Amino acid sequence: MTQLFSPLKIRGMQARNRVVISPMQQYSGDESGRATDWHLAHLTRFALGGAGIVFVESTAVEKRGRSTHGDIGLWEDEQIAPLARVAKALRDNGAVAAIQLGHTGRKASTQTWWHGHGPLGEADAARGEPPWPVVGPSPIPVGNGWPTPQTLSTTEVEAIVQAWANAARRAREAGFGALEVHGAHGYLVHQFLSPVANQRSDRYGQDRWTFALEVAEAVRREWPEDRPLFWRVSLADVIDGGLDFDEMVGLLRALKERGVDVVDCSSGGGIASYPTQGRSVSNSLQFRAELAGTLRAATGLQVMGVGLIIEPQQAEAHLQAGQADLIGVGREALYNPNWAVHAEVSLGANKEYATWPQQYRSYLIRRAAAADALRSPNASRSNA
Ligand SMILES: Cc1cc2nc3c(=O)[nH]c(=O)nc-3n(C[C@H](O)[C@H](O)[C@H](O)COP(=O)(O)O)c2cc1C
Repeated sequence: MTQLFSPLKIRGMQARNRVVISPMQQYSGDESGRATDWHLAHLTRFALGGAGIVFVESTAVEKRGRSTHGDIGLWEDEQIAPLARVAKALRDNGAVAAIQLGHTGRKASTQTWWHGHGPLGEADAARGEPPWPVVGPSPIPVGNGWPTPQTLSTTEVEAIVQAWANAARRAREAGFGALEVHGAHGYLVHQFLSPVANQRSDRYGQDRWTFALEVAEAVRREWPEDRPLFWRVSLADVIDGGLDFDEMVGLLRALKERGVDVVDCSSGGGIASYPTQGRSVSNSLQFRAELAGTLRAATGLQVMGVGLIIEPQQAEAHLQAGQADLIGVGREALYNPNWAVHAEVSLGANKEYATWPQQYRSYLIRRAAAADALRSPNASRSNA
């Protein structure tokens, strides 16, 4: 039994293995921020491909907290039904249906990647994608050329905390089995934590953890006891004076006390600027593995490692080394949605295609036999 393909139970959630499809924005929501047939098809492929947990992309808790016009959201009840359809398809095909909730704060109002991923401007408005006012803890833009955020008043911050709770309630009603707070990549939660982006004097600035802790409490109030709560962090900030690792350990201990179960260890998307003051940070789990392992030991949280996992053996090695409990796969799954079942074969754990969809199984067994026969030295003679 490999660790990657051993089942996982957290609270009442049972996953068939530890392969997690990392949240990936598709910029393909409809004009009301609802999931579309694209999301259904795109995400179901990963469940058919054997992943244990499949995450729906960052889903906005407020309309102004989207990053692009194509983002999906859960800021109103009309957005529940199309996501419920996705959640059901994931469950029906053996995966835990999971969703990430997010708010981009001062990094909102951006172009899709295929239009440049900079701040929206006049050319985008001419295309029907106008910019909208962005908000943040303090009037400090992400970088040159980025809009200066409107400072949120204390009551507006409280309303956003409530928006997280409302979105968690909608995710529950949509039938998701796991939920993640996007606390990384320089988005709103990360902005409040950062001494660089948060220079407030109210209680959200006097203690920079306050917003994150209130979000955790608000989400937990609406998120059922028997379903796990994940929290994504950027382990490595890329700016002097940014969040340091020791503070992250303390914060995660406090989040654990408020019902967070899993820390999803991402990095980058820094709090500073585009580009991050000439500094960059590797996106690979290899780069962060030691920190992830330290965090696991120091907090007692389950750890999800993510970043440039390409080979199944890499994933298995991180689990065996005690650096992670779950492995997130992003781009590699876009390249090969069957990454999980292929990984299982490659690690020698999938006998007779047992975990492939039954609609395919017997054909694949016969395909393998036919392919072996073709590859055998006598094949060309017998075929001749
Ligand atoms: C197309 C795309 C969209 C992404 N969208 C999100 C997102 O919605 N939320 C998030 O936390 N990370 C997002 N990410 C980051 C991934 O979840 C993942 O952490 C990152 O790609 C590193 O893993 P990988 O090397 O396996 O791709 C996105 C990445 C890609 C490629």
